[in-house]
Amino acid sequence: MQFKKVGIAGAGLMGASMSQIFAKYGYDVVVYDAFPASLEKGKRLVEINQQTQVETGEQTAAEAERILSALRFSGEMEALADCDVIVESIIEKLDVKQEFWAKLSRMVRPDAILTTNTSGLPIGEIAKDIVGKHRFLGMHFMNPSHLIPCVEIIRAEETDDASTEAIVELAHSIGKKTAVCKRDVPGFILNHIQLAILRECISLVEQGIADVESVDAAMKYGLGFRWAAFGPFEIVDFGGIDTFHHISSYLNRELCNETGIQKMLDDLYKEGKYGVKTGEGFYDYSNGKDVEALKARDEKFVKIYKALYS
Ligand SMILES: NC(=O)c1ccc[n+]([C@@H]2O[C@H](COP(=O)([O-])OP(=O)(O)OC[C@H]3O[C@@H](n4cnc5c(N)ncnc54)[C@H](O)[C@@H]3O)[C@@H](O)[C@H]2O)c1
Repeated sequence: MQFKKVGIAGAGLMGASMSQIFAKYGYDVVVYDAFPASLEKGKRLVEINQQTQVETGEQTAAEAERILSALRFSGEMEALADCDVIVESIIEKLDVKQEFWAKLSRMVRPDAILTTNTSGLPIGEIAKDIVGKHRFLGMHFMNPSHLIPCVEIIRAEETDDASTEAIVELAHSIGKKTAVCKRDVPGFILNHIQLAILRECISLVEQGIADVESVDAAMKYGLGFRWAAFGPFEIVDFGGIDTFHHISSYLNRELCNETGIQKMLDDLYKEGKYGVKTGEGFYDYSNGKDVEALKARDEKFVKIYKALYS
């Protein structure tokens, strides 16, 4: 599906931030908010963000000017009626979102695709009174959404393939990377992982095992440093599935509800697929891809180190 006109509902922190990225990539963008003061605040936020983009050399002043003039702000919900796609980013309250969608879904074209940027409310529940549930799904940006590459796309039970694919394509068209959550579960993918990590970090501090600064240092300079370039599965492939299998065999029972070794890891271990070192793990490293992967790893780490610490 070819989208031309994007409607953003909610001119707050997230709505304002994402509006400029859609405008940057040439979409007609209309931003709607129910409150005049929020619209003014949203415009101001976009101006501040664009100024920073110019000051950091990411954008020319002319480009920033073009983006600002491409955005239309409106206090009328009708302004969203002829949009090809809507990204709703209003307050995180289920009843407010339900009421908004019950009304808007009856105003828009039947082929318009409808998305919500909810952080974690069930997509299916937000869609309770929507007309055309097959075209409704989650499009979850991360703050600041004009800079963070990942967009999480969440299917509800009634979302169809065509709408999901169209939103994946839309996200790619604005330079984003996508993570598709196949089921409408609490926390989706991002917050499922984020909260698991946060729980463990707080637990370490509360037990007096480490202070806040040490936990942050372990994340920033260790785990997070690697995760800026590679996902946990890629990291295990580099480290060795055999090694992580051994570590899991004595640490899991101390640390979590999964007392044994998880099946995915155990199966690969039993098949002798240890990751980069054997040419296959979670990913395929055959036919020279192992050397390419090692080279790419080091190049990325050097770049991150230079960008942040040298
Ligand atoms: N802040 C984050 O880090 C973050 C990250 C990802 C997703 N989100 C999600 O994005 C959404 C917006 O969050 P935010 O941080 O931009 O909040 P925000 O408070 O900055 O903005 C919310 C906006 O919604 C508007 N609004 C409230 N009721 C409305 C209604 N009935 N109709 C139209 N507009 C209405 C408000 O005027 C406000 O401008 C929420 O669902 C939130 O969970 C937030």
